[in-house]
Amino acid sequence: MKLVDLRSDTVTRPTLPMLEAMMAARVGDDVLGDDPTVIELEQLAADLSGMEAALFMPSGTMANQVAIRCWTEPGDEVIMESGAHPFHYEAGGAAVISGAQIRLIQGERGVFSPETLQAALRGPDDHYAPARLVSVEDTSNRGGGTVWPLATLDAVCAAAQDAGLKVHMDGARVFNAVVASGVPLRRRARGLSSLSFCLSKGLGAPVGSMLCGPKDMIRKARRVRKMLGGGMRQAGYLAAAGHYALTHHVARLAEDHDNARYLYEGLVSLGYEAEVPETNMVYLRSSEARWLVDRLQEAEIACFAVAADRIRMVLHLDVIRQDVDRALQVFAMLRP
Ligand SMILES: Cc1ncc(COP(=O)(O)O)c(C=O)c1O
Repeated sequence: MKLVDLRSDTVTRPTLPMLEAMMAARVGDDVLGDDPTVIELEQLAADLSGMEAALFMPSGTMANQVAIRCWTEPGDEVIMESGAHPFHYEAGGAAVISGAQIRLIQGERGVFSPETLQAALRGPDDHYAPARLVSVEDTSNRGGGTVWPLATLDAVCAAAQDAGLKVHMDGARVFNAVVASGVPLRRRARGLSSLSFCLSKGLGAPVGSMLCGPKDMIRKARRVRKMLGGGMRQAGYLAAAGHYALTHHVARLAEDHDNARYLYEGLVSLGYEAEVPETNMVYLRSSEARWLVDRLQEAEIACFAVAADRIRMVLHLDVIRQDVDRALQVFAMLRP
């Protein structure tokens, strides 16, 4: 039986045309700056985001951490929402790589208001770690795959700018936000200082993320990436997959959103408690989350319990409607 893998949209395998694009790639040595396919991908990312420059990164984690390192000095404070990825899942990197202190603020499903940000800002005082950077996550993973409303995003960027803070977006799944909102990336990114996004999630590339920002920041980011061991040589093979993903797999994210909605509605009709999906993630509430995940696994449906009472299921290009139907059949047998 085929495994229906709902653990993450990171599990996607390259499609045949993507592999063909990788095999046909012209490559050079990107550490020496002459890999034409990497250069082309970086140009495309810069164009799409409306930023001056972009840098190909091995992972979303490195893209976020390099951004934090670029915008802060040791002892500075980075403000982010309580569920944010760099706080929960980046191995304490901000402390080690940047010597930065993370300050958490509370949002609603991963989205916070400008007022909440302003309330967290403290004046200049030697007691405090100076706040330098705000990080927003769009879509918000632990928030439920939620999309930042454009007005809120703009207002948070404006509040940060007024206070002299930079704004980084962890846009690991920002194209899900683009497709769900119908707002182009360059518009969503208008108020940002920098943006990272992943090619290796719903877009289906095997590896890679982009960091976009102003030219001088990206120049610095290139050096920090090298310092962290993230300089890649014939990276054009991977960049070709990323380029293919950006040119062929963005619009189809809508299918994942439809499947998420279909899964959610099926679960609710079976009597499960689930959070309304905005993009490609369905979060289920169950007091027996770990037990349920184990039973699903026995039936070849894979997903994660992200807490004792919360299960996450992620839709992506390797999950088709029939797979969702099969998952729902198993849920029907396990229903509360
Ligand atoms: C919101 C968010 N940011 C960053 C990352 C990190 O990406 P990577 O796994 O490529 O390091 C992830 C990965 O799941 C994520 O969900």
